[in-house]
Amino acid sequence: MTGVTVVDHPLVARHLSVLRDRATPSSDFRRRLSDVSMLLLFEALRDLRVREDQLDTPLETTGGMRLADEIVVIAILRAGLGMTDGALRLIPEARVGHLGLYRDEESLQPVGYYESVPRHAADAEIVVVDPMLATGGSAVNAVSRVKRDTSGRLRFVCLVAAPEGLAAMREAHPDVPIWCAAIDRQLDERGYIRPGLGDAGDRIFGTE
Ligand code: PRP
Ligand code: URA
Repeated sequence: MTGVTVVDHPLVARHLSVLRDRATPSSDFRRRLSDVSMLLLFEALRDLRVREDQLDTPLETTGGMRLADEIVVIAILRAGLGMTDGALRLIPEARVGHLGLYRDEESLQPVGYYESVPRHAADAEIVVVDPMLATGGSAVNAVSRVKRDTSGRLRFVCLVAAPEGLAAMREAHPDVPIWCAAIDRQLDERGYIRPGLGDAGDRIFGTE
């Protein structure tokens, strides 16, 4: 599918396998999700623009570089929180925004309850993160809300995507490229991704 990149790497696949395993406790789940988020974002940000710079080593002046654009990572709550620590380890310069959304259990429609996006430059690089892209309702809604207030370049990074969610995002936001670790088989009747990894928020925070 155009605009969708599945990050194909043995270490990503190994992290994902551990995350799928129901025997993985929350403490390991959080650490693995943070680590795999770094790998996914590393790929997703490969084309960041840079600016040449000068710096002094202890011995002489040499050429260096800095990131040309401001970077804003926007986590969709709750599960996106599991990706922000990895994002900040990878990009210490980044600032973080939060969008609170939950899926209504009956309608599967996203319901917004919180919004905090830092002010940023008009040409900022914006990365929306959420481990799960299921029906796509949450991601489509989050990206629409971000677009309302920004003209920055947007990307969406998730861990597991359902074909239905990818199709919904491509239709609503064809200008927003997507990175994931896997495209799973299908959604079930309750809107869960199969085989998936269950409810990402519950697994991160030990709620159930
Ligand atoms: C999960 C997940 C996504 C959403 C994906 O959140 O973190 O945000 O579902 O589903 P969708 O693509 O069908 O919208 P959930 O609603 O369970 O909230 P939580 O993260 O607070 O548990
Ligand atoms: N949200 C999750 O956390 N998991 C799914 O499988 C679908 C939506």
